[in-house]
Amino acid sequence: MQAQTAPGTPAILDTRGRPLRDLRISVTDRCNFRCTYCMPKEVFGKDFQFLERENLLSFGEIHRVTRIFRDHGIEKVRITGGEPLVRRKLERLIEMLAYHEDLDLTLTTNGSLLKQKAADLKAAGLKRVTVSLDALDNPTFMKMNDVDFPVEKVLEGIDEADRVGLAPIKINMVVKRGVNDHSVVPMARHFKGSRHILRFIEFMDVGSTNGWNLDSVVPSSELAARIDAELGIEPAEANYRGEVAERWRYKDGSGEVGFISSVTQAFCRDCTRARLSAEGQLFTCLFATQGTDLRSLLRNDSSDVEISDAIARVWKVRGDRYSEIRTAETAKLRKVEMSYIGG
Ligand code: GTP
Ligand code: 5AD
Ligand code: SF4
Ligand code: SF4
Repeated sequence: MQAQTAPGTPAILDTRGRPLRDLRISVTDRCNFRCTYCMPKEVFGKDFQFLERENLLSFGEIHRVTRIFRDHGIEKVRITGGEPLVRRKLERLIEMLAYHEDLDLTLTTNGSLLKQKAADLKAAGLKRVTVSLDALDNPTFMKMNDVDFPVEKVLEGIDEADRVGLAPIKINMVVKRGVNDHSVVPMARHFKGSRHILRFIEFMDVGSTNGWNLDSVVPSSELAARIDAELGIEPAEANYRGEVAERWRYKDGSGEVGFISSVTQAFCRDCTRARLSAEGQLFTCLFATQGTDLRSLLRNDSSDVEISDAIARVWKVRGDRYSEIRTAETAKLRKVEMSYIGG
């Protein structure tokens, strides 16, 4: 079925003049890890009510809504979770979305199932992957994933993704002071010269269950200084306007690292990202407290034009800039959880 909205329609701008360019689609709120900064075990225990299967958007629904977003100028789709690879037959969705050949189609994963799935994902048309990895030593990594998952298996997943050509591979490391900040330089050393791009993420106050406080955040400036002292790095140009990570390159030409500094250097000014939860709620900020239900529209015979208009209405009134206005007070708000909204 073809979209009834005209391709090439001028981009819609929000109240701060930001266009809609990226769509991050969560395909499940479940995950096989319990990272302490995302799904702490005490909250996401065996009694936690995850979404029922029938409430998840089907692959057909995701495909349709993506096509409608595409007509609003979306250039990149990132599949997220929870852990996206725990959704059965995910490669079928990838195959459907890969129909849009010029779309930057990518996925963020914890890497646990990547070794088994990389080849199928590549064959289905996935272009690249981003893998989360918080340490190289098992005691620290297991303390963070909290399910005793070994580092070696994630590294095998990264190797396999590389082998099948899901490149460039980005590695995301969330840094918490006193927990894994001693792993920053070893991680940098390990991935230096590997062609993979390691990015350090400041621990954020996403959701309301991860016990965030400013003392646990290691500012990127501090990390950059530490890495520079050991390995020698210098600032590099951004790849594109609004890039989330600030790029730094090794002075000896052996690659680059990135810093994602939502806490100490907010990047809301150029934020072009919309997020769709696994049950079809549309969010215009990672720190949102409320979304807009698109699933009802998808399931009540609304036309593509009606859905397209609903998306445009949401985007046009968007004024989000949470990271710019974060305080100890806002950190306590009941925001949606990262595992629900996607990273
Ligand atoms: P590419 O440049 O396409 O590889 O992607 P990206 O830089 O958007 O990276 P990715 O999607 O892997 O995002 C990395 C991490 O940055 C996420 O997991 C979040 O922790 C954080 N992040 C991404 N987008 C936002 C955002 O809009 N706001 C905030 N505060 N953090 C974000
Ligand atoms: N702060 C920063 N990054 C986070 N992520 C999950 N929770 C947080 C948080 N509280 C990151 C993960 C992964 C991506 C999905 O988001 O490490 O890379
Ligand atoms: Fe799972 Fe990723 Fe959250 Fe860790 S950060 S619990 S791997 S969704
Ligand atoms: Fe975008 Fe919200 Fe993140 Fe700011 S805090 S960059 S508006 S998602």
